[in-house]
Amino acid sequence: MRIRVTLTWLRIVIGLLACLVAAVAGALLIAWTGLYSLAASHGHPGWMTSFLEFGKRRSIIANTRDLNVPDLDDPNLIRLGAAHFDAGCAVCHGAPGRPVTPVFEAMLPVPPPLSERAQDWSPEELHWVVRHGLQFTGMPGWSGEDRDDEVWAMVAFLRALSDLTPAAYGQLAAGNAPQETADVDALVTAGPASLPMAACAKCHGSESAPPTSDLVPILSGQSPAALEIALNDYRSGARESGFMEPVAGQLSEDRIGAIAAYLSSRESLAYAGTEATDPDAIARGRELARRGDGDRLAACDSCHGGSARADYPRLNGQSAVYIRAQLQLWKEGGRAVTPHGRLMAEITDDLSEGQITDIAAYYASQPVFQYGAAVSPAGGEE
Ligand code: HEC
Ligand code: HEC
Ligand code: HEC
Repeated sequence: MRIRVTLTWLRIVIGLLACLVAAVAGALLIAWTGLYSLAASHGHPGWMTSFLEFGKRRSIIANTRDLNVPDLDDPNLIRLGAAHFDAGCAVCHGAPGRPVTPVFEAMLPVPPPLSERAQDWSPEELHWVVRHGLQFTGMPGWSGEDRDDEVWAMVAFLRALSDLTPAAYGQLAAGNAPQETADVDALVTAGPASLPMAACAKCHGSESAPPTSDLVPILSGQSPAALEIALNDYRSGARESGFMEPVAGQLSEDRIGAIAAYLSSRESLAYAGTEATDPDAIARGRELARRGDGDRLAACDSCHGGSARADYPRLNGQSAVYIRAQLQLWKEGGRAVTPHGRLMAEITDDLSEGQITDIAAYYASQPVFQYGAAVSPAGGEE
């Protein structure tokens, strides 16, 4: 009796295995003969479209986890998201007043316009799609690995997208770069890349405008050495950011040197101070920055003050939101790959949440650092 049951099972298993082998062999044969054309121009047969759509939907829903969703109405998130969307997403998905370009319309599947489509998904689901991308569609994942925090700017923007007119979108995406009408001459000779849309200033601001979002640092006035280190770190991927890696990846070493020298010589417009500041917090922050806590914590200004090493970044005049976000990033294990990054990781380990708020408030209350002004006439540094 036992032997017969075992034999029956054995036959079933062998039968199933044979079916599997036949199916794999059949699939390989079809692939080898090229009978199933993978030409994107053919489109998918109806059953394949439904299957892929079903698979996508289930994958997004099943893999989305509960996350701490920040305030998605925060203009700092929406504005930074808009500036990046224009450079990194609109090329495929189009934007208000701008349809999907013909090249990407020939993709399979076609990237959908997101004004309506984004509303189908919850913030957590959008976060998952933008963070991880979608296999078999061409939708890329976020280029700053482990920068889940950055993805919220895209989610906040996607949620705001459906209400945007083409004009409102254009303004938001151009950030704080002066929106000049394209010079026809420049368009003819250099192409649309000469438009201010492609510029650093739309995010980082300039002499006439502050950065577009408090999450974006001021660059003008930093030392060339500090700027070069940051750009090279983004370029090599050692410092992760889905906003900056694609930008720095396009810059050659020579260009990085030239940009660093240029930015360093520029003055910048300080933040108008978008956050209310508490004088007591600023006073506590000043004490920590100048003297440390008298225990383990070194004075921040020993490395970030005016006379410190030129290749260390200055914090005076950066927004409190940016300073807090970066310190938080170190606390969560990010930004700790480079030697300079590891130096700060050790320091942030000892920082409490309260100290972070105080120090950020203090540095944000200071006039923006100006490297050029600290260079002596003899050309020596500070
Ligand atoms: C190379 C082209 C390409 C780029 C660049 C791109 N996407 Fe996509 N995206 C796609 C394609 C293709 C799909 C899948 C469409 C489908 O499955 O029907 C997609 C799907 C999506 C979806 C899901 C929409 C849905 O309901 O299927 C969202 C949200 C999205 N993209 C957001 C973004 C954002 C935000 C960016 C920029 C950070 C971006 N995409 C960059 C091609 C692109
Ligand atoms: C879409 C907006 C955007 C654009 C465009 C952009 N940046 Fe950035 N940049 C950011 C953000 C956001 C950060 C902070 C990223 C992080 O968390 O590390 C940053 C950081 C930087 C830093 C590091 C500064 C520091 O204090 O550590 C440098 C340097 C920089 N960007 C240079 C540039 C240059 C040069 C360009 C143009 C070629 C440019 N950026 C274009 C958004 C942008
Ligand atoms: C021993 C030197 C040293 C000390 C002390 C120090 N830092 Fe730093 N800090 C650095 C270096 C180097 C970097 C650049 C890290 C990198 O390139 O990734 C940095 C970067 C930063 C940044 C990011 C700046 C930017 O533009 O992205 C912040 C914010 C910061 N430090 C805050 C602090 C605070 C707050 C303290 C005091 C509690 C402090 N640091 C003390 C060396 C120091």
